[in-house]
Amino acid sequence: MFHIIVEKTYDDVSREAFKVVKEVVKNVENPVLGLATGSSPIGMYKKMIADHNSAGTSYKNVRTWNLDEYVGIPRDHDQSYWTFMHENLFVGLDIKEENIHIPVGDAEDEQAECEAYEKSMEGITVDLQVLGIGVDGHIGFNEPGTPFDSLTHLTELTEQTRQDNARFFDGDIDQVPTSAITMGLATIMRARKIILIATGENKADAIKGMIEGPLTTDCPASILQNHPDVVVVLDEEAASKLNQR
Ligand code: F6R
Repeated sequence: MFHIIVEKTYDDVSREAFKVVKEVVKNVENPVLGLATGSSPIGMYKKMIADHNSAGTSYKNVRTWNLDEYVGIPRDHDQSYWTFMHENLFVGLDIKEENIHIPVGDAEDEQAECEAYEKSMEGITVDLQVLGIGVDGHIGFNEPGTPFDSLTHLTELTEQTRQDNARFFDGDIDQVPTSAITMGLATIMRARKIILIATGENKADAIKGMIEGPLTTDCPASILQNHPDVVVVLDEEAASKLNQR
């Protein structure tokens, strides 16, 4: 079930998304958050930090699991998702380092790392999973064709995704890793509640496919049609191809 919120600006989108996170962090005992990297949640993360500083919302009892990590770059690389999360969120909160979980991208045995990551979530229910969406409809790095029953796995990034992410690598696609470790679609679907943030016209087709398209692995995000509680926060551009709002 989708609850769709359409706002004017990125700041408005971030504010609405932040409200959903704050409600979970305030009301759930020992909350578990699933987190995403990328441009979409940055504004929301800024608001979480501002609120922590001004209202004292504490993350001491919060545990987090991130969706994914690039393969082949170490944690201290400036474009690792580990670095991204620390710079854009964790550094500004009172979260404990031992409560943060992000796949290890330069593990010697990548397969074993996928299994260990999935196992680290055994018996855990993510209270709120934060998602962005790729222009090809990916969530996490579950690219088109990924089975709906997938768990944490090693995946090849598509040319499109690498191109989209080249902006973080001096615009040079050759520097963008070719594979990643990602939670699977079944892993993501186990979350109690999901919030998906998307802005910009280039996301309009993916959003339409996710909400109004057929349930198909061609648009991995369409699996969310089967989830009972998905809040979708969009700007006008990302919502522009929807028939119904
Ligand atoms: C990030 C992730 C990806 C992004 C998606 C959108 O951890 O899993 O699915 O959410 O690629 O990225 P942005 O927000 O940069 O457009």
